[in-house]
Amino acid sequence: MALKLPIYMDNAATTPCDPRVVEAMLPYFTEMFGNAGSRNHSYGWAAETAADTARGQVAKLLGCTDKEVLFTSGATESNNLAIKGVAYMYQKAPAGQSGRGHIVTCTIEHKAVLDPCKRLQKEGFDVTFIEPPADGVVTAEMVKAAMRADTILVTIMWANNELGTINQVREIGALCKERGVIFHTDATQWVGKMPTNVEQDNVDLLSLSAHKLFGPKGVGALYVRRHRPRVRLQALQEGGGQERGFRSGTHNITGIVGLGKACEIAMAEMERDALRLAKLKSKLEAGVLAQLDSCVVNGNAEKRLPHISNISFGFVEGEGLMMAVKDIACSSGSACTSASLEPSYVLKGIGVGDELAHSSLRLSLGKWTTEAEVDFAIEQVVQGVKKLRVMSPLYDMHKEGIDLSSVQWAHH
Ligand SMILES: Cc1ncc(COP(=O)(O)O)c(C=O)c1O
Repeated sequence: MALKLPIYMDNAATTPCDPRVVEAMLPYFTEMFGNAGSRNHSYGWAAETAADTARGQVAKLLGCTDKEVLFTSGATESNNLAIKGVAYMYQKAPAGQSGRGHIVTCTIEHKAVLDPCKRLQKEGFDVTFIEPPADGVVTAEMVKAAMRADTILVTIMWANNELGTINQVREIGALCKERGVIFHTDATQWVGKMPTNVEQDNVDLLSLSAHKLFGPKGVGALYVRRHRPRVRLQALQEGGGQERGFRSGTHNITGIVGLGKACEIAMAEMERDALRLAKLKSKLEAGVLAQLDSCVVNGNAEKRLPHISNISFGFVEGEGLMMAVKDIACSSGSACTSASLEPSYVLKGIGVGDELAHSSLRLSLGKWTTEAEVDFAIEQVVQGVKKLRVMSPLYDMHKEGIDLSSVQWAHH
C-alpha cells in the first residue's frame, strides 16, 4: 500500500484522536450538550454523569481515587496550577518579601514548568534548576543534593518530551515523602504509554494532557493527593467554583469525555503498544546507525520511552537536514524564536553542542506507526544525510582522519 506523505513521526508533539474517542465525544456536542452545573434538569445531570465517568477512567489509569482528579485545559494549565498553587499555599513569607520558599526543578523541563518556576523566582521564591548529566536522567541523588531546609516543592518531569528519557520518579518521590516535601511530576509524555500508580510511585501532584494519548486537544487533568499528605492548592482561576473550587469554568464536557475514553483505551492497550513501538524504535535506530557513521542517539539508551528517538547527525547542516527529510513530519533540534533558529535548550542542557543540536531529529512513533513507515524513514534519513555529506568538506577531512579540533582555521 502506498504511504501517505508526509509520514507522521511527531507523536510527542501531538497524536491523532483515536476514532473510538471521537465516537464517544460526538453525542456530547449535540444531544447531551448540557452544563454539568445545571442541577435542575436531565441535560445537566447527563453532563455531570459523563464527567464522573471520565474522572473514574482517569483515576483508574493513575491508580488514585476519583476525587483526586481535577479537569483542566491541558498540561500547561495543570503544571501552572500545581506549581504556583503549591507555592502560594505553602509560602514561608508573604508576597513582596524574599525567602518565600525553595523549589527544585531541572533545566530540561518543558517550558510549561520552567516558566512558572521563573515567574515564582521573580516573585521572591528561590529556585534550583538541576543541570542533568549527559544521559539526561535526573536521579534522586541529584534532587537530594539540591534540597534545602526550606524546600517546599520538587517538580521533576516523568519523561522528557525531546529525549524520551525517564527520570527516577519513584525514588525522587520517596525522598520527598521522607522529607515532607511536596512532589509534582509533569507526566505528559508518560501517562497512557507506561504503567502509572501514584501510590507506588510516591507522587503528590501529576499533570497530564489528552492530546498526547490519542485524545482531543485542550483538555487535561491534574492529580492532587488527598491523603498522606492532603495537598492544598491556591486556585489560580476564580469564578463558578467548579472542580471543588480549584478550577472554575464550565466543564469542557466533550473534551473530558474524550480524555476519559482515551485513558480507558490506554489502560487496555498501552502494554501491547509499548512492546510494538519499542521494537519499531530499535529497528529505526539500528537501521540508521548501521548505515551512517558520526551519529549519536541522545539520552540514556535504556531509560527511555519506547516511542521517542532523538538522533544527532554530524557533518550536516540543520536546515538542509529538515529539507532532506521533508517527507517525514518530525521535529528538529532547532526551536523557532522570534527571528532566528535557536538550538534546543534540552539538547544544550545535556551538553550537545549548538551545531549538533541543530542537526538533530526527534522521531516519535505512535499507535498507528507501521513498519513500512519506519523502513521509509530509515531510507529517507540515510539518503538525506549521505547526500548532504557529499557536499561537506568537513566530512571529507573527517574521513581522511584529520582531527578537526586540531585544525587551525584561517580567519579573514
Ligand atoms: C512534557 C510536556 N509538558 C507540558 C506540555 C504542554 O501540554 P499542553 O499542550 O496540554 O498544554 C507538553 C506538550 O507539548 C509536554 O510535552
